[in-house]
This record gives sequence, structure tokens and C-alpha cells, in this order.
Amino acid sequence: MGMQFLPSLVHLPCISDPLGTLGVIEGPSILPFDVKRAYFIQGIPAGSVRGSHAHKELQQLIFAPSGSFDLILDDGVKLFEFRLESQSVAVVVPPGYWRTLQNFSSDAVCMVLASAMYDESDYIRDYQEFLNWKIE
Ligand code: TYD
Repeated sequence: MGMQFLPSLVHLPCISDPLGTLGVIEGPSILPFDVKRAYFIQGIPAGSVRGSHAHKELQQLIFAPSGSFDLILDDGVKLFEFRLESQSVAVVVPPGYWRTLQNFSSDAVCMVLASAMYDESDYIRDYQEFLNWKIE
């Protein structure tokens, strides 16, 4: 395993007025990669756990435009835990982290911007396989 990049928090500028809030994700200071794909997850039943996989190369930006959830990142040794509950705070997730998403509020939306198109071969869905891959 070569150099490991750490997860980081970025601030998303939000413009609020009586007509609501407009959040902006723009530029290399917020996103250290070019976006090739965006997707969202919503309507998550209470108590659900999502994620439970790692990506070999994919970089992502994850945040909660509505509601809240926990994002737990595991590098095989250390855990990095985030409570996403503000539309103006996002986590940059580098490659090589096992991620678990849980404790979703009923109104939670998980918004993800990603550096590549969907590719199942970039996933590691078995935790032991992830640990083995990390020490390769
Ligand atoms: P998955 O990434 O496993 O969801 P989560 O980690 O949030 O629980 O994806 C769930 C399903 O959706 C899986 O069958 C793959 C499919 N999928 C796509 O087809 N395109 C995509 O961009 C994503 C993220 C998932």
C-alpha cells in the first residue's frame, strides 16, 4: 500500500434567504477531483446500515443536503467517524476506506459526487478481502 490520503471535511457555501437555501459545490478547493457521477440515496428505513464496502480508486464527496446520518471510515487500522447533519459540511473520502453509513434520520438524503462512473470491479465488498488488499 502506498501513500494514504486522509479523509477531510470541506465547507460548502450556502446562500440562504427567505426562499430557502442554495448550496454550492464548485472548484478544486472543495473537490480535489473532477466529477464524473453524482447519485443520492433517500427513503432509508430507520436502523438501516448502508455502504459496507471500500473502493480501490474511487474518490467521493459525501454530505447530507437534508437530515442526518453517520459516516464511518475505516482504513484497516483506524476509524474516522463523522456525523453529517449540516448541508454546508461534506466529507472528501479518498480511495481505500471501508465505509459504513448508519443512524439515518427519516428525512436523510445522502448525496454523493464521485470521480468515476459506476464500476463494480472497483468495489471490495468483503471486509477480510479489504484488510488483505490494504497490506498488499
Ligand atoms: P451500493 O454502492 O452497494 O450502495 P450502498 O453502499 O449505498 O449501500 O449500490 C447499491 C446498488 O446500486 C448496487 O446494486 C449497485 C447499484 N449502483 C449503480 O447501479 N450505480 C451507482 O452509481 C451506484 C452507486 C450503485
